Amino acid sequence: MRKPSPAYLQLPRQQISLSLLCFLRTLAASSETGRTQDKYETFLLLSKVPALAPYLAETFLLSSSTFLANDRASLGIRFPLVVKPISGEQSVGVVGIRDENTLRRFLRKRNRRYIAQPFISDALEIGVSFTRNPAGPSDFFGVAAKQPVVLEADWRGGFYKAPKYFHHQDITHNVDRERLLELCRTIAATLRTNTFRFDALVRSEGTNLKLDTMQIIDVNTGVFAADEFLFDISHAPQFFVEELARRYTYLLLWGGRKTPHPTHSQKRKLLMHYLYCYAVTLYRHFMDTAIMGKFRNLIENLAASHCSDNR
Ligand SMILES: Nc1ncnc2c1ncn2[C@@H]1O[C@H](COP(=O)(O)OP(=O)(O)O)[C@@H](O)[C@H]1O
Ligand SMILES: [Mg+2]
Repeated sequence: MRKPSPAYLQLPRQQISLSLLCFLRTLAASSETGRTQDKYETFLLLSKVPALAPYLAETFLLSSSTFLANDRASLGIRFPLVVKPISGEQSVGVVGIRDENTLRRFLRKRNRRYIAQPFISDALEIGVSFTRNPAGPSDFFGVAAKQPVVLEADWRGGFYKAPKYFHHQDITHNVDRERLLELCRTIAATLRTNTFRFDALVRSEGTNLKLDTMQIIDVNTGVFAADEFLFDISHAPQFFVEELARRYTYLLLWGGRKTPHPTHSQKRKLLMHYLYCYAVTLYRHFMDTAIMGKFRNLIENLAASHCSDNR
């Protein structure tokens, strides 16, 4: 027997397209203001909330001028640390720095502002996705365990290059859902956003995450925050498509509420945004499959040649 379609898939088509366009309008508005781009501002806002503060990696502002004008102790700098551009994504420009000399070398040629955090080692990286349901529960929620494709932390000349590519495993059913959801709702309310993903480092014992040790290192707000738990290639296509449809339906409905009358050119521009975001998630899901496939072949070939050598 066929499973009935979930309610959000039964919305009238006109309602979906109108909401889609309205949502896209909202998206353009927020990207124009750049409100979601400043990582330091995000951490400042979150750190003022007592329920969130213990979960945030210590984060401070860094630039050549602040570094040179103050001594290390007054800035509270401890090494190793991680330096990141104020606005960035996909690990671009994120570097580990081992000591003061290396930091001095790094800042000498750079005029931009950065944020810095203590380098957290020996922890599992997770990506927690959240989108509020405009009609109340249940919110869209998922957790990915992120394993860097290159496992060894590679320090060279005092620098460490942050991993850019990860394998993703959906661990949503292995986490304290209520505790993380509560946290997500507080973050959403504080940043006044309906959708985001945060990256965090957390100690774990087997499959058990020790949430008391969780440190949030990055919060990506808006529709561009990819839902990494959906990249897990073991998901059945039906689950994957349903979850993606659910998240985007929520976003469309939020957009429809906020901006009911977009102009024609706004609609066109926003439609491109929407298609881009949806396509990126689909693409990443299948690209992970391809990467995994490549690694599997490589390992199998190595194992096969090892066996034949030992015969
Ligand atoms: N404080 C930290 N300690 C250890 N590794 C970190 C830290 N901050 C970032 N990283 C690594 O660098 C990667 C990119 O940093 P992130 O803060 O997520 O910026 P973005 O994703 O915007 O480029 C993370 O996925 C993580 O692997
Ligand atoms: Mg990140």
